[in-house]
Formats: sequence, C-alpha cells, structure tokens
Amino acid sequence: MRSLIDILELSTTELEKLLAVACDIIENPQKYAHKCDGKKLATLFFEPSTRTRLSFEAAMYELGGNVLGFSEANSSSAAKGESVADTAKTVGCYADIIAMRHPKEGAPLVASMNSSVPVINAGDGGHNHPTQTLADLLTIHREKGRFDNLTVGFCGDLKFGRTVHSLISALKRYKNVKFVFISPSELKIPDYVKETLTKEGIKYTETTDLEGSMADLDILYMTRVQRERFFNEEDYLRLKDSYILTPEKLANAKEDMSILHPLPRVNEISVAIDNDPRACYFKQVFNGKIMRMALILKLLEVE
Ligand code: CP
Repeated sequence: MRSLIDILELSTTELEKLLAVACDIIENPQKYAHKCDGKKLATLFFEPSTRTRLSFEAAMYELGGNVLGFSEANSSSAAKGESVADTAKTVGCYADIIAMRHPKEGAPLVASMNSSVPVINAGDGGHNHPTQTLADLLTIHREKGRFDNLTVGFCGDLKFGRTVHSLISALKRYKNVKFVFISPSELKIPDYVKETLTKEGIKYTETTDLEGSMADLDILYMTRVQRERFFNEEDYLRLKDSYILTPEKLANAKEDMSILHPLPRVNEISVAIDNDPRACYFKQVFNGKIMRMALILKLLEVE
C-alpha cells in the first residue's frame, strides 16, 4: 500500500504514467466512469480549500466512487483534542483512501504512518502540496509538451509557498531546467531548497525584479502572499501587494510564456490578464481534477 506525501515519492517514470492516464481520461472519460464503484474517499480538511477538496470529491464521483469527510477542523473530533494518528486510524475503518490537508507540516505523514489505507497529502502548512504539483505538471505538459529546457520563474511568497516547493522538487529532475526566484527579501525561497539545488548542480537566480526577469521566462508561476502564514498582520499588509501582474508588465514576455497560479488569487494577477492566451490558471484547476483521478486509480491499484 502506497501513500503520497511528497512528490519525490513518485519516480519520473511513474509521473509519466500518471500523465498518460490523465490524457486518456480527458479523451475517454466514459472508460473510467465505473473504475471506483464501491470505493470511498475521505476528505479530511483541517484548513480551508475550494479547489483541492472539491476536485478530489469530483474526481472520486467521476470514477464512480463515493465521498465522505469534513471541511473544517471544528466539525471533527480534533476540536475535542483527538490526535491526527487516531483520526487516521478511525477513518481507515470507513474509507478506502484519505486526502488530508492540515496547517501543520508533517501531519499527513503522521496520518500515513497510522492509517490502514493510502493517505494523500492535500497540503501541509508551508511545506508541500504534491497534488497541486500534479496539476501543474499536466498543465505544463499540455501547454509546452516538455519539461526539459525550461526557464521557470516563481514569483511572490516563496518562503511559505508549499506549491512552489513541491513543483521545484518535481521539475529539478528534468534536463537543463533553470529557476528564477522573484520575491521580496522577507519571502525568499528557503535555504534548504537552495542548498539542494546547489548540491544537485541546478541553476537558479534570486531577484526582487519581476519585469526585469520577464523576457527569459518560459513559465511564470505567480503565488499569493498568504495571510494565514504570517505571525504579524503589519508584515502581511506591507508585503501583500509586492507583485501585481498587469498586461503592461507582460510587454517583454515571450509570446508563448505560460502564466500559472495555484489559486486562490487575491491581487497578484490582474483580471485583465484572464483572457490573455498565456493565462493557464483556470486550466490548472481542470487539470487538477484529472490528475487526482489518475492518482486515486494508482494508489487504489485499479487497473
Ligand atoms: N490550489 C489550492 O490548493 O487551492 P485551494 O486552497 O482552494 O484548495
């Protein structure tokens, strides 16, 4: 039995297989409509979500399965002091697979160590978000047709941005990928990420200048400054509008640059960009559901 806590638990061969299954689901959805008949997914969300929870639920329904769960910690026995380990042991008696989001880094790992069924990390604090990465990878695959030879800019909150950390882990395994980290100095990419890149000989640069970096990018991955990760409201207010992508700022961007954002968006991408053919963030939402379908099939070992 396998869980998915960190994207690096999937080999590049397994990722390619998931992408192939996802593309087949898009082409032939009826083929998959009963693959999970009689199976149940539990969504245990201790932190707010729109896309991840609802796409997991839609994914399971589209596979013919059923869904149970909760969408806030206060409606579960966590509010009475129950541990993550006990919650996981309990839910394993009701469901065949669990998707868990938790504000504490490592909580889904603890759940997986105590669960009799596979656990999927649906986002743990500022750490990892592997299924968002699956959505991002399918989007890049469909837009660019490759993962090699890409210059990828990450912009915004790179310190707490779990989607950023997971996508870097996935992309660094491909050939000649370069990263440009664009953030205010307070929200720089963590040292442990940079140390890994240096050790593995992967090229990256750090800057505060979005417009000055634009011309080089094949992909621009915008992120929200996350109010919920700040200890101090004043710092959040000072940093929240550090980067706002507007049509004017795209003046030097490549014609085929892809603009990604895991969403939710606050101010960091102007709605005036939504109709630009380079805007891919709502495509990511759709791709997220498809990749979660492929992942559920894999972890439940459904042929
Ligand atoms: N991208 C993402 O995780 O969105 P939600 O917080 O709405 O699930």
